[in-house]
Amino acid sequence: MKINVCKGRLADAKSQALIIPLCEGGTTLSGVASEVDKKSGGVIGEILKSGDFEGKTAQLAVVYSRGTPAANRIVLVGLGKKEELNLEKIRNAYARAMQHLRAMNVQDAAASPEPDWTTEPREKIFTAAAEAALLGLYRFTSYKTIGRDDLREMRKLDFFVPSEDYPLIRGEVEKSRVVAEAVCFARDLVSAPANEMTPSILADHARKIAVRKQVTCEVLEAGKMKALGMNALMGVAAGSQQPPKLIILQYSGGKKTEAPVALVGKGLTFDSGGISIKPAEKMDEMKTDMAGGAAVLAVIRAAADLKLPINLVGLVPATENMPGGKALKPGDILKSYSGQTIEVINTDAEGRLILADALTYAAKYKPAAVIDVATLTGACVVALGEEVIGMLGTDEKMKKDLSRASQATGEKVWELPLWDHYSDLIKSDIADFKNTGGRMGGAITGAAFLGKFVGKYPWVHLDIAGPSWFTKDKPYIPKGASGIPVRLLLEYLQNRLQE
Ligand code: BES
Ligand code: MN
Ligand code: ZN
Repeated sequence: MKINVCKGRLADAKSQALIIPLCEGGTTLSGVASEVDKKSGGVIGEILKSGDFEGKTAQLAVVYSRGTPAANRIVLVGLGKKEELNLEKIRNAYARAMQHLRAMNVQDAAASPEPDWTTEPREKIFTAAAEAALLGLYRFTSYKTIGRDDLREMRKLDFFVPSEDYPLIRGEVEKSRVVAEAVCFARDLVSAPANEMTPSILADHARKIAVRKQVTCEVLEAGKMKALGMNALMGVAAGSQQPPKLIILQYSGGKKTEAPVALVGKGLTFDSGGISIKPAEKMDEMKTDMAGGAAVLAVIRAAADLKLPINLVGLVPATENMPGGKALKPGDILKSYSGQTIEVINTDAEGRLILADALTYAAKYKPAAVIDVATLTGACVVALGEEVIGMLGTDEKMKKDLSRASQATGEKVWELPLWDHYSDLIKSDIADFKNTGGRMGGAITGAAFLGKFVGKYPWVHLDIAGPSWFTKDKPYIPKGASGIPVRLLLEYLQNRLQE
């Protein structure tokens, strides 16, 4: 779908439908709503008076204006209480309106978000609306062959703005399109089945991103990784017929001398658990175990498209975790790339093994900051629920800034502690560490394990096991792959530039 920014008034829009968000309890219409109401001979006022539409959160009504304004359909969508209004509610409202219009088989819509809805800078209202419209309409349909003709598509959404706002809003809306497309790219990678999203195919996607200016892609093959001594990563790959890859995607938008931010993403294209095999129920969901890697690729793609003046290194260790004849066995000991040894208690705790070597490798870039993103533990989902990212790390400023980015984007992050005593739980009797710390505090012992392989750089770990995949529809995240935390990381990186 295309999003256009147009100079002019919504009431004059030539479109199939006008979207008018309204707050709860407002009996007197103002701004754009009042203009459209006047032009329609009072149909909005009428439905409000009747009580059929109250502006409650997510409430929706379509009224028809019989010729004026030309748009004819007016979609009212509830924003909830005025005092509680924020960007997230605005996102939800636009996503809901757009989904409803698509279901009605309407193809063109127009809207005019109003800057005074919140105290945020005026462009934020537009970018929230634009992002949510694109993200809420996302579907993963490439494998459906039946009923394709019935798939309805929105063609365009026009935003009407006063001429003085036009250049600013146009530029900002274009940026939100780039961001939304990156999120949908990550969703596509995660939704793809494991037979069609192998480590090699994931690497091909990374190479395609590198057609952009200032982006380069290098892929370390099995032979090279073995020679380097990445035995933790190679150990996980041993049970699979698919060759592992270490994908290195670099974007150099910043000064040559500037230290990069490194993003490390878990790229398990399928996690069967290995010899410590998972139960059959829901094992299919483990095609999503590369969601961290997908997010890292998507962030670099968007950073390059936005031409952010920043240097980034994306590292995605990619492999399957399979119970083949050569697979890791519980009790095996691996010498990691760092030189430290790991006793593999449970082959299903494989993410931390591949990330260990990738985090050690990251030091090579002398990064200013490292963020790893991983569907690491079921325990994190137990602790925080399906919608929340677990955040652990050693750098207070990074954690604070990520929390701020979380507020701004609605991608929920919550910190878990990483106190020293948790490390006691991953000590091995015969090796340096063991790869599981038992059932209790599993998200934390997972992070504590990663911490042992972190170099001399500020580091934060994001556990996205819960929110990488939603089992229920959210207003602008249809159920399935969410693309989290692409928006969070892009917000964080953009804020870094302001410092
Ligand atoms: N990929 C899983 C974690 C996961 C679980 C992601 C649910 C998404 C949804 C990870 O590799 C894993 O299996 N972790 C184990 C660790 C345990 C063996 C210490 C877990 O969480 O059970
Ligand atoms: Mn696992
Ligand atoms: Zn896993």
